[in-house]
Amino acid sequence: MKNIFAITALLLLVDNKAFADSAEPQIKTFHFSNVLQLGMRESVQCTVMSGDPPFEFSWLKDGRPLVDLRDVSIRKSDDFMSTLVITKVKADSNGNYTCRVSNSAGYDEKSAVLSVQESGVPKINPFHFSGELDLGMRASVQCAVIYGDPPFEFSWSKNGHKLVDARGVSIRAIDDFTSTLVIVKVDADSNGNYSCKAANSKGFDEKSALLLVKGKQHTYC
Ligand SMILES: *[C@@H]1O[C@H](CO)[C@@H](O)[C@H](O)[C@H]1NC(C)=O
Ligand SMILES: *[C@@H]1O[C@H](CO)[C@@H](O)[C@H](O)[C@H]1NC(C)=O
Repeated sequence: MKNIFAITALLLLVDNKAFADSAEPQIKTFHFSNVLQLGMRESVQCTVMSGDPPFEFSWLKDGRPLVDLRDVSIRKSDDFMSTLVITKVKADSNGNYTCRVSNSAGYDEKSAVLSVQESGVPKINPFHFSGELDLGMRASVQCAVIYGDPPFEFSWSKNGHKLVDARGVSIRAIDDFTSTLVIVKVDADSNGNYSCKAANSKGFDEKSALLLVKGKQHTYC
């Protein structure tokens, strides 16, 4: 009889242990945006889906504890959620971020990799020719780099062929970030697809615009 009580007590203990195990925290997976660029703001949430509070939240970056810094803040929204905010993503924000949540029964952790898109690659502002171009008019467009590290090398092409500063076409550097294309007198041969390419040591961007002389749309090929 004494044995039976002992066994029942033991089973209760085992039961309790099992109950405690099932109350370990479980965290939802989280991800960083895949279109992150330098200077952007990013945040991820570490949310406990199950388990018994109180929880202790901690954040790690590449395995090292992440502390509240100027550009990184960690906010506990409630007992079940902690938010990591990176106010300005920098090149050294890249890394593997881990949220770890523990309680008396155990812990769980989830990780996500933050990777800033290639930085310093030029970005050109889209440009367009006037839609009101008649024969003999002057057409001009500006190729302006709005992002990236100088120096840039600009090149213009028409229907895939390199354009040079000659024969009624004028290409001028306005400043380190801007190149202007002028077609002094538009004629039927001016129709085409004009592209500007800006390159630097990190990469390049290219934007194009169609020039269509009024009434001559069908000569474009
Ligand atoms: C990120 O860190 C976690 C925890 O240390 C690890 O399990 C995971 O493999 C890492 N992921 C990558 C892509 O390095
Ligand atoms: C113009 O040229 C660019 C670059 O070659 C190309 O990507 C684009 O599709 C062309 N646009 C048209 C309307 O042909």
